Amino acid sequence: MSSLITKYNIPGPRYTSYPTVPYWNQESFSTDLWLERLKENFKLTNLKEGISIYIHLPFCESLCTFCGCHKRITKRHEVEAPYIDALLKEWKLYVDFLGEKPVVKELHLGGGTPTFFHCNELERLINGIFKIAGKHDQSEFSFEGHPNNTTFEHLQTLRNLGFDRVSFGVQDYDERVQKAIHRIQPFEKVQQVTEWSRSLGYHSVSHDIIYGLPFQTTESIVKSIEKTSVLDPDRISFYSYAHVPWIKGNGQRGFKDSDLPKNEEKRNLYEIGRQMLEQNGYFEIGMDHFAKESDSLYRSFQNNTLHRNFMGYTSSKTTVMIGLGASSISDCETAFAQNEKNIEKYSELIHENQFPVIKGHALTNEDLILRKAILEIICQFQTDLNNVYPVINKEEITNRLTEFLNDDLIFINNDVLTVTELGKTFVRNICMSFDEHLIQNMPDTQLFSMTI
Ligand SMILES: C[S@@+](CC[C@H](N)C(=O)[O-])C[C@H]1O[C@@H](n2cnc3c(N)ncnc32)[C@H](O)[C@@H]1O
Ligand code: SF4
Repeated sequence: MSSLITKYNIPGPRYTSYPTVPYWNQESFSTDLWLERLKENFKLTNLKEGISIYIHLPFCESLCTFCGCHKRITKRHEVEAPYIDALLKEWKLYVDFLGEKPVVKELHLGGGTPTFFHCNELERLINGIFKIAGKHDQSEFSFEGHPNNTTFEHLQTLRNLGFDRVSFGVQDYDERVQKAIHRIQPFEKVQQVTEWSRSLGYHSVSHDIIYGLPFQTTESIVKSIEKTSVLDPDRISFYSYAHVPWIKGNGQRGFKDSDLPKNEEKRNLYEIGRQMLEQNGYFEIGMDHFAKESDSLYRSFQNNTLHRNFMGYTSSKTTVMIGLGASSISDCETAFAQNEKNIEKYSELIHENQFPVIKGHALTNEDLILRKAILEIICQFQTDLNNVYPVINKEEITNRLTEFLNDDLIFINNDVLTVTELGKTFVRNICMSFDEHLIQNMPDTQLFSMTI
């Protein structure tokens, strides 16, 4: 295993989209084209399957120095009301443009920290969204809560508004690690919010844990997983720490490179965590995700309906996902669009009645074929290569996959590629063989985090 890790630990995408954001083609994209494709796919699917909404709430009170999310650190809560006004205005721009009442199947509040906002502002946001939209009869609403500032009132307000799933950022319980990442968060806080969520009837409580953080050791990860298991969340995202210090403003400092576990040492932390979680009744689903048998994510993995998008893995898929808020990404299957990241510029555009889209990508037929293959590999660990041959001929793809075959990371039977147990560790590398944009135009500088 250790030589495989040395061989395959290279920078690589996490494939929350294909093509990946650095390879979006700006020349063939325009906001008008995005809107045209969005409307076309919306009309085809809205009444049948509904749509998803992702709402980005970018504020946090305190900076965690490992964080790769798009956020703004502030203690000034006056920012809340104008930001919610802008979100509601953006939503109205979309609803007016689409000309038909959207039926919302999935709604997710992400961040930043959604629980930075007061309950009355969150209530105003959700009520404002549904003033001009309908709810799907199988709707699923979820949000990300910070254990340090999620109150009982937050959980109750959101539960009353129809939220059923919550994920809490835990990261690690070790004091030295918490100090290094500037995130002091006692076990009791996580215990309290988890118990409150259960008592209020949330059906899925999830914890985010990260491996590969500064100063983590075998011992510390064992303790963190033990504590996690005591609280018995329904899902666990066991993320690989993405070290991307070159991204502007993401605050990954406060520790040295040499404080980070790397290569085998890092992977070993995952293996230990995985074994403990499996012994405690969790199943590994897709990449870095675990769920109990009773959770909808496990059921969709079993039924081959697991999907991956900018929010990570989801149990159901809608063709259209509209991202609201600064930096949010939207996806209508045949096009992606990203909003302005700067909060002030985003708000200005909205108040000028303009869609705040600053970049995107219109997918070609080739992109659609490769996107499907990459999604199948990362969600189901299997894909039929016959579908790929029109874009990458059989000889070429066989050449690209030979190394993985020789290392027993995959096997191919009747042109169906299957990732082996061993290969699951290297699933990002396997997907890279199908990434024509990356292969045709290898970057000169590091764009992505390491694959291990
Ligand atoms: C927006 S935060 C969750 C909500 C809230 N802000 C909090 O921190 O509790 C989303 C999650 O992304 C994960 N994350 C952030 N930066 C990461 C990084 N550099 N590598 C891996 N995971 C990261 C963390 O596990 C974090 O809980
Ligand atoms: S981890 Fe969460 S709370 Fe910390 S800076 Fe990132 S988004 Fe904010």
